[in-house]
Order: sequence, then C-alpha cells, then structure tokens
Amino acid sequence: MTTNMIALVTGANRGIGLATARQLGARGMTVLLGARDAERGRAAERELRDGGVDARHVPLDVTDAESVARAAKLVEDGYGRLDVLVNNAGIALADGDRGLPSETTVDTLRRLYETNVFGVVAVTNALLPLLRRAPAARIVNVSSEVGSIALMTNPQGAFFALTSVPYPSSKAALNMLTAMYAKELRDTPIKVNAANPGYCATDLNGHSGFRTAEQGAEVSVHLATLPADGPTGLLWGHQMDAGGGYGVLPW
Ligand SMILES: NC(=O)c1ccc[n+]([C@@H]2O[C@H](COP(=O)([O-])OP(=O)(O)OC[C@H]3O[C@@H](n4cnc5c(N)ncnc54)[C@H](OP(=O)(O)O)[C@@H]3O)[C@@H](O)[C@H]2O)c1
Repeated sequence: MTTNMIALVTGANRGIGLATARQLGARGMTVLLGARDAERGRAAERELRDGGVDARHVPLDVTDAESVARAAKLVEDGYGRLDVLVNNAGIALADGDRGLPSETTVDTLRRLYETNVFGVVAVTNALLPLLRRAPAARIVNVSSEVGSIALMTNPQGAFFALTSVPYPSSKAALNMLTAMYAKELRDTPIKVNAANPGYCATDLNGHSGFRTAEQGAEVSVHLATLPADGPTGLLWGHQMDAGGGYGVLPW
C-alpha cells in the first residue's frame, strides 16, 4: 500500500523515532529518516527497506543550520512538499540534567535547548513552506509529560518529587511552541500537536522505561495521521499519572 504521502522524522535512526518511521512506512508513507550520522542513518534505511518500507535517509543534524537547510532543499527537490513532520530528535544528558534548579548550569541548559527546543524551531521553519504545499500537513512535536507544568506541580502526582530543570523545562518550552504554532496555523489545514510517548525503554533512559519504543511511537503516528476534524494544539499521549490514562494531558 502506498499513499504518496511524504513524512520526515528527525532522530529516526533509533528508539522512538525509528519505530515511528517504521509505523508511518507501514501505513504506506514514504518516510524520510532524519539522522545526523550517515552510517546510522543508512543502517536504519536498510532495516526499514528490508521490512518493506519506502525509506530514505536524509542527513540532518537539527542543531546545525546548514544541515537543516540542506535537508529542506533535499525534500523540496525530491518531493516538492511534505505531509508529515515529526520533530522527534531529543536528548537528555546523562549527567547534569537531574540536579536542582540551583545546581543547574547555563551550559547544560544551552546544550539541551539546542536540540530539544531550538532544533525544533529551525527544522519546522525550514520545512513550513513545504508543509503548506501539502493538502493537510501534520506536525508532531515529541514532548513529554515532564514538560507539563500542571503535572509537575501537582502535589498528588507522580512527578512531584522531580526537581530537575533542564530536560523538563526544554519540553515545557516545546509545549508552548506547539501551542503557538497551532495558533498561528489555525486557519490552515495544518495541525500541530505535542506527543507524550510515555516512559519507553530506549537509549535515552538506559532502557529503564516500561513501554516499548513501538508503543511510544503509536502516539506520534496517531497525531501524524489525524483526520480533518482532529484536534490541534494539544499535548496528547500516555500519562503516568491518574492510573496511566491515554488522551489529552494538561499543559
Ligand atoms: N524514551 C522515553 O521514555 C521518552 C519519554 C518522553 C519523551 N521522549 C522523547 O522522545 C524522543 C525520542 O527519544 P528516544 O527515547 O527514542 O531517545 P533515543 O533512543 O536516545 O533517540 C534519540 C534520537 O535523537 C537523535 N538526535 C539527538 N540529537 C540530534 C541532533 N542534534 N540532530 C538529529 N538527531 C539527533 C539521536 O541520534 P543519534 O543516534 O545520532 O544520537 C537518536 O536518533 C525525544 O524527543 C525524547 O525526549 C522519550
């Protein structure tokens, strides 16, 4: 089955991004695998192609303006439009991002924000002209429930004990970006939502998560394939609080 739809997933060479690309490909989309490392990107391309997916590696480091511009040109030259953008690339530093606010360094914040926040703006703005050319494009920003100020400050909630600033604040910024892009684009067919994959076993957390990457990816795929009457400007996905519900999360 092919749909002629073109999807770009950033950070698609492993983890939730690779699973997202696989699932979008299984729905018949041509999947462009954004990966900053050529060998890892080609390996992911081979893996998905072996599984029958129309996948193509696109060199893309979301923190590198030239790389972003080259990737956008590649999409424009090759396809002329983009139907789905999944801003999935993200980092959580192994050291230094679990500290109290008073122990957090600006350098740490800067490193995380370069990828988790500024990278999303750079990629989205570079690709927005191509997303506007699609009949009804979808933008998915892969966020986290730890970016929800409401959940992080709920004294009865699962996250109240967490005091770390860098990763949660980067995802809080991403949530605001999502809401504002959705507002700017509300009179277009484009929908912009933030995905919460839930706590998934990937390299990001030393595989401590209790969901699989495939389960986490289902959230991005849901938001990437929303119908015309679907929502925009939401944080959506698996919730650890409230008995592990699935649906809209508070900002
Ligand atoms: N795992 C979870 O429990 C969880 C929960 C909530 C949200 N998330 C979010 O889900 C997304 C995917 O995370 P994951 O768990 O799948 O992590 P992961 O296995 O560590 O994968 C991260 C991906 O991002 C890529 N990446 C990092 N920096 C990049 C850059 N500058 N340019 C392009 N690609 C870059 C990595 O590429 P390299 O291989 O080159 O490093 C890798 O492909 C992230 O946004 C994360 O914050 C994860």
